[in-house]
Amino acid sequence: TMKGIETLVRESGAYVSRRVFSDADIYKNELENVFGRTWQFVAHDTQLPKSGDFLTTFMGEDPVLVIRQEDGSIRAFLNACSHRGPLLCMAEEGNAKSFSCPYHGWVFGADGTLLNVPREGGDGYHHQLDKGQWGLQSIRVESYKGLYFANFDPAAPSLRDYLGDFAWYLDAIFDPLPAGVEFLGGTMRQRLKCNWKIAAENIVADTYHVLAAHAVAVGVCMGDRGMQIGIEVGEKTDVDALGISATIDGHGWNANFDGQGIFGLFKDPAPWLAYVNRQRQRYIEHLGERRAWFVGSSIDGGVFPNFLFVPGFTFRQIHPKGPNECEIAMWTVVERDLPPDLKREMVRFNARMLGTSGMFETDDCANMERIAMTVNATQGSRRDSHYAMGLGRERERSDLPGLIDQRVSDTCFRGYYRRWAEFMQAESWREIPLAPRKLT
Ligand code: FES
Repeated sequence: TMKGIETLVRESGAYVSRRVFSDADIYKNELENVFGRTWQFVAHDTQLPKSGDFLTTFMGEDPVLVIRQEDGSIRAFLNACSHRGPLLCMAEEGNAKSFSCPYHGWVFGADGTLLNVPREGGDGYHHQLDKGQWGLQSIRVESYKGLYFANFDPAAPSLRDYLGDFAWYLDAIFDPLPAGVEFLGGTMRQRLKCNWKIAAENIVADTYHVLAAHAVAVGVCMGDRGMQIGIEVGEKTDVDALGISATIDGHGWNANFDGQGIFGLFKDPAPWLAYVNRQRQRYIEHLGERRAWFVGSSIDGGVFPNFLFVPGFTFRQIHPKGPNECEIAMWTVVERDLPPDLKREMVRFNARMLGTSGMFETDDCANMERIAMTVNATQGSRRDSHYAMGLGRERERSDLPGLIDQRVSDTCFRGYYRRWAEFMQAESWREIPLAPRKLT
């Protein structure tokens, strides 16, 4: 555990030392205390439809292999040969009955068992190798609404408890209709030269940057069609019209209730507006009157620490690759009921906007790498980053779970860094609190 965290994250998360974005010791501790204990997204149901389907991902810096089993369940393993440790599966995804190590040829089943060892008998191991002891290291997996998360810590609470009341928000994007959603078009990946939290906070919490960082891109996309994207202020004064920020146990949700803000930047919003308006009654029946209006609204947020979403633009995960580098994996996510031509259009649109070379993504990456330039320098690393917008205005509300303020505020940053500090300080999960759950 890390001593002195309270000097790094101060005043309820309003000021955070820039050392947390560059220091190698802090980073090493994070791999243990954050990535060794939190529930991390590993796959969506629709990425692995058939038995034997697999994909490779990461938890912290550990390569992980995720496989659909014969009984339909999903299991995850360290993607490391149990003999001497090389990466076992080098493919990003595929279908396989077994996995053979390229080094000495040990063969593992889809359930992680060691099936076959060359020279197991008198010409090698003399039948003294207990294959039952040398299967792949299995990792705990649990699911919520088609999302599979994994956790290295046997003492961690259940995924459902970890998500707590935040699940109420997640339903609006992962369970908007009974048919659910689908991950489409494969995985886009890119490397970025900045600390993983800089890439994560941008989406967990940062609506404010859209106004300046993306001003040109927004202008190009909107032209003069006169739509709004949901973060304009104008005459709006009440919190619901301004949108909300909600933070629960480090998870963040920043959203509007207009039911159409996503589509303001689309090439042709008309068929999308027609689709959500046609479905609106079904959203209301499935999600209730309040949450139904999240569908189609501009939203950004994430599950602590690194699973993030901007519905309509891309869903993503940030993998740490050292204190000053990260890898972003991105997906297009759509409702399964969406007509096929709109599904195809969403894949293209996601690539154009928040794909690896998308108009909005490149704005963000430039700013994130500019942060990395100063937080690693001697004087710059001694400064604090400022997350004090709206400090003290967060409120509990009877109609929405979490601590709430208007959308353009630093509420979700503060929640995120308070949670980060809790994980960094705790000896074990016994010292990590979970917000009391109000909803079932
Ligand atoms: Fe994999 Fe030897 S390291 S079989």
